[in-house]
This record gives sequence, C-alpha cells and structure tokens, in this order.
Amino acid sequence: MSDNVATPNRFVTIQEHIINEQRQHPAATGGFSWLLSGITLAARIISANVRRAGIIDVLGDAGAANVHGEQQQKLDLLANKTIELCLGYRGNVAMIASEELDEAKVITRGETEEDRKYIVVFDPLDGSSNIDVNVSVGTIFSIFQRDPALAKKSDDQAAEILQPGIKQLAAGYIVYGSSTVLVYTTGEGVHMFTLDPSVGAFILHSEDIRMPEKGKSYSVNEGNANSFPRAVQKFLEWCKTEEAGPYSARYIGSLVADFHRTLLKGGIFLYPATAKSPNGKLRLLYEANPIAFLAEQAGGEATDGQTRILEKTPKSLHERTPLFVGSKQEMERLRRFIRDEA
Ligand code: AHG
Ligand code: MN
Ligand code: MN
Repeated sequence: MSDNVATPNRFVTIQEHIINEQRQHPAATGGFSWLLSGITLAARIISANVRRAGIIDVLGDAGAANVHGEQQQKLDLLANKTIELCLGYRGNVAMIASEELDEAKVITRGETEEDRKYIVVFDPLDGSSNIDVNVSVGTIFSIFQRDPALAKKSDDQAAEILQPGIKQLAAGYIVYGSSTVLVYTTGEGVHMFTLDPSVGAFILHSEDIRMPEKGKSYSVNEGNANSFPRAVQKFLEWCKTEEAGPYSARYIGSLVADFHRTLLKGGIFLYPATAKSPNGKLRLLYEANPIAFLAEQAGGEATDGQTRILEKTPKSLHERTPLFVGSKQEMERLRRFIRDEA
C-alpha cells in the first residue's frame, strides 16, 4: 500500500470486539453477536440519514403523535422502522418495544427457543427536538433474554418485557454528533467505537471506559427549577458556590449526548420530577435503564433519587422515572441533600 495512505497498524471492528466478548461468555451463542450486528447495521443506516436530513425529506413532523402525545418527527419513524427491520432479519428477536410503538411487537415467530431468545427495547431517536437545528441526537438500546415465567403470569405479551434493569444482557447508545460514536456494554465494561464513514465500519476507540470519580459540570434543564424537589434545588444552589467550584452548567437536551459527556468527563445529569412531569420525563425501560447499566459499568451511579434505577421493576412499557446519573462524588453529595431534606 502506498505510504501516503494512513494504514493503521491495528484496528478492531465492533464485530471482532463482540465476538471476542462472546468468547468470554461460554454460554453465549453466536446468536447474541448476530443480534448486535443488526443494531450496528441499523446505526449505520440511521447515521447516513441523520447526516443528510436537510437534503432528503426527513426533517420536521411526521404529522402524528406517539403514545406520549409527542409530535413524531419523520426521523423518529425512519429510525424506528430501520431498527425493526434490521432486528427482524436476525431471526432471534422474539419481541421489541420502542418509544415510538404504543404496544410491544412480536417480530419473530421462529419455532425453537433459540429463534425467539431475545427482547430488544429501544429509543430509536433520542433528542428529536434537536434534529431540525443540527444538534447531536442518538439511539438507545437495551437487550434482555425472554423470561417465559413472566409470560405465564399474564396474558399480556409485554409482561416478559417488564424486567428490572439488572436483567439486561447488554445496553448501549449511538450518538450522531460531530462523529458517529457507539458505546455498549455486555456487563464486562464499557467500550466505545467510532464510525469510519469511508469504510462503513465501527472502529474501536476505547475499551473499559471509567467515569471520573468527580466532574466539573452538572446537566439539567434549569427552566424547570422552580418545580424541582427542594433537595435538588439545594444541591444545584450548592453547585453554584465557590466551595463547590462553582460547577459549569452544560445542557444539550439530548439525553444520549448529555450522558456521553458525563461518562467521559464525569459530573452529574439530572432529570428530576417536575410540575409538568411529576414522575420525571425519561422512560425507565429504554432511556434510564440502558444509561444506568452503562454508568454503573463505568464506575458511576444512577438512581431515581431514592432507588437504584437497575432495581426498579417497570409496571408498564412507557413508565417514566426521575433520573440522576453520574460520578460517585456528585451522586453522594446529592444523596446527602435528599437525606437532609427527608
Ligand atoms: P426523545 O427525543 O427520545 O423524546 O427524548 C428527549 C428527552 C431526552 O433526550 C432529553 O434528556 C430530554 O428529553 C430533554 O427534555 P427537556 O426538553 O424537557 O429538557
Ligand atoms: Mn429519548
Ligand atoms: Mn425518542
């Protein structure tokens, strides 16, 4: 190869990384890697569309509202359909649940248990309100194994999906930002890949990412501050003091982008209960849970202010929760304000 072409001495694609991970899980079959490759395929397709959003007709409202009463953006629906198709081709995903689907959906009616082994829940496009102004958006996913015992307890097919976050087999997100970055965990650390658009492959950037024990910023929509719980208001007042730093305020308005910064730089992200969203705005199954799994795997913490996110058992598909996620020191400081206010 001529010497003016950058030839990396070694690059690891996400496919290779997933297979190496799988080798460490003797019980893991190739099916899990095959499923994850469906998600990376969907991520590449969504990324290509996000990057051309102003050119192809995928900006703006789709003219319908989702189950949350939110105006669906065209890119929400495109991303949702893309993930559903890519997972459907894999043949081992029994059911999916999505922010953009009112109900859970059976997508594989294979005969054997292996055929119908996995459940995938996802937020196909996170930060939709930012699409039209070219601010980072993302996709969030979480993978469970089916739990037929849950199915027996209820004739609602979604019952198998309502598992606590500690049962997740894998979780991750893609940030469509200045570059397209995929971050995932299977419970063996947090790993980050960057999409090289010139070859269409996700290339390993960092393995076993550790969230700093302490950060320099907090991330919250302060427009809602007047209706935050008093303990949260006191914590944010403390963040602004000389004693605390003061902390910088950083808020993008896309959970994935705000969390990605918190994962790499430390600090804390907060979406408390507000007057408008008394149970919090973020959804437990496909926003808080995957983010919490990643945060804990990187040495951080995630709670709803009282309970560890991963120990909450959802009662419904689109259940909302307050979310506080970040570095140990900030989470401990917030916990003290909550304890003192109790
Ligand atoms: P989505 O676009 O999937 O509905 O998610 C938007 C969420 C989340 O990405 C972000 O943290 C939060 O909404 C921002 O909410 P506010 O605009 O109320 O701050
Ligand atoms: Mn979202
Ligand atoms: Mn969304």
